[in-house]
Amino acid sequence: MCGIVGYIGNKKALPLLIDGLKHLEYRGYDSAGVAVLGDDLNVVKTQGRIKVLEKKLKEFPLKGTLGIGHTRWATHGIPNEVNAHPHYSESKNIVVVHNGIVENYLELKKMLIKEGHNFRSETDTEVIPYLIEEFYDGNLLEAVQRALNIIEGSYAIAVIAKSEKDKLVVARNDSPLVIGLGKNENFVASDITALLPYTHKIITLENGDIAEITKKEVNIYDKQGNKIERPVQSIQWNAEDAQKGGFKHFMLKEIFEEPHVIKEAMRGRIKNDSIEIPELKNLSKDYLKNINQVFFVACGTAYHAGVVGKYLSEKYLKIPSKAEVASEFRYSDPVIDDKTLLFVISQSGETADTLAALRLGKEKGAKTIGIVNVVGSSVAREVDNVVYVHAGPEIAVASTKAYVAQVEVIGLIISYLAKSLGKLSESSERTIVKELKMLPEKAQSILDRADAIAEFVYNTTKNIEETFYIGRNLDYALSLEGALKLKEISYVHAEGYPAGELKHGPLALVTPKSLIIAIDTYAPLYKKTLSNIKEVKARKGKVLAITRKGYKDMESVADKTFYVPETIPDLSPIISVIPLQLIAYYTAESRGLDIDKPRNLAKSVTVE
Ligand code: M6R
Repeated sequence: MCGIVGYIGNKKALPLLIDGLKHLEYRGYDSAGVAVLGDDLNVVKTQGRIKVLEKKLKEFPLKGTLGIGHTRWATHGIPNEVNAHPHYSESKNIVVVHNGIVENYLELKKMLIKEGHNFRSETDTEVIPYLIEEFYDGNLLEAVQRALNIIEGSYAIAVIAKSEKDKLVVARNDSPLVIGLGKNENFVASDITALLPYTHKIITLENGDIAEITKKEVNIYDKQGNKIERPVQSIQWNAEDAQKGGFKHFMLKEIFEEPHVIKEAMRGRIKNDSIEIPELKNLSKDYLKNINQVFFVACGTAYHAGVVGKYLSEKYLKIPSKAEVASEFRYSDPVIDDKTLLFVISQSGETADTLAALRLGKEKGAKTIGIVNVVGSSVAREVDNVVYVHAGPEIAVASTKAYVAQVEVIGLIISYLAKSLGKLSESSERTIVKELKMLPEKAQSILDRADAIAEFVYNTTKNIEETFYIGRNLDYALSLEGALKLKEISYVHAEGYPAGELKHGPLALVTPKSLIIAIDTYAPLYKKTLSNIKEVKARKGKVLAITRKGYKDMESVADKTFYVPETIPDLSPIISVIPLQLIAYYTAESRGLDIDKPRNLAKSVTVE
């Protein structure tokens, strides 16, 4: 999730690129750069925000009417100047900006190094200009086509060659890219936001498209090289709407990104239907065999992802496992030694309590695995092994897409470790992989029914005094997250509770003014939770049940039933959390609250 801009026309490219990048800074902000083709092909880049880049450009003003720019949100390689885009080819005759992940970059890099090439950065991106240069014989479009044929992964790229002064080549696969049409000038950007000050005539590229853009023409080709047409749309959004992709809030936009996030989190981690976590390759079988306890430590939503981890770890690794809130863990003098495996989960990688828990664990000898979103963050730097979740920048204070990615990556890691320990059969692994691959589509099918959730919320939650989220096992883990989401953005009191525990106290609170969100997706315990729902109904509480498709008997018990697609129970939280996030969102929205910046809360809690 970075930002790309490009310009070709008669005007000075640099101010247009910088303006475009400023509109995209919300997508990535750890480093930035521009390349402009004038008499020469020059690149200026820096670590930090666009204003730092602007300052540097005062010393190196770039002249020319063709250029590309990038604002980065690191995925491979820490945020620094060398890793910032644009990236040159080895001879510096070609430059590329890229969003996405090149899955097979290690193989490609190895191959190129063997052929005698020298790389400058730690990024996956750098193999792209190097490959294009390998294939280049005077026709940039063809060279890009040939390079992309061997690149696996997601990308939106913009490419310039020094010897083709009238041309910009762009391509996309699983990462958005749009072309803006002007008069004797054309623009490209990773999202419409950057283009709206200049044009409202937009072409959206589809996966596999490659376009050759001059100041007068746009020619688009499919993967096979056939010329194709894409419709020109007239976009009427204003700049603020565009940043949010037309959604009313970043939170909703981020929830709707989840199908893509699910795909990205497994990218490079499934090879020939087998689960591989390259970041954990150095954990030997001997080491793994010796582990005698597993901890998941984190705060807030990340902690709730850890609760899912605890259930999965015990089930698959058959090792005692615990999820602990980092602020408690750090002061509890936990019994830890070198046989302890400590998972540290954090979206930002900067949460003070989580960092302290990590340091304590290390001090006591535990091996640590970080599940982190922000590349190069403190947690990422301090853990023994970091596995990035690749959810992209999360702007809303309420964490949504990061949770989905965390749960998925934890599931992948646990499966991988279980396999390494001989505790996961090949056929179970195949089933997990098959189901995982179907999740993006299933998540989308839930989002396609978001209106049903909104309608329920608008009709039901106005006079509610008390909300309980209940569930068992993984559904209990989800109930904690559902309740937190509701509390933090709608300011409605909510509690997540084990469904079987209600009658040991909280049932006394249930009245017709109580709303119970019953999560009953975990197939092995479906009937048990159904009985708990009946107990609530007997006290006249209102029940919205979130259950698996096909469990029709729920309809005669709950006031409203929302079905989530079937999948294997252990993957269900990845998609079953979506209705819970939507309930919280629409509740807050119906109350007219400041959803992206809820009162009293900060996105990153760097104090204890
Ligand atoms: O950046 P982290 O994942 O370490 O943040 C942890 C919590 O502060 C965070 O999840 C918080 O609970 C969110 N506001 C929840 O939506």
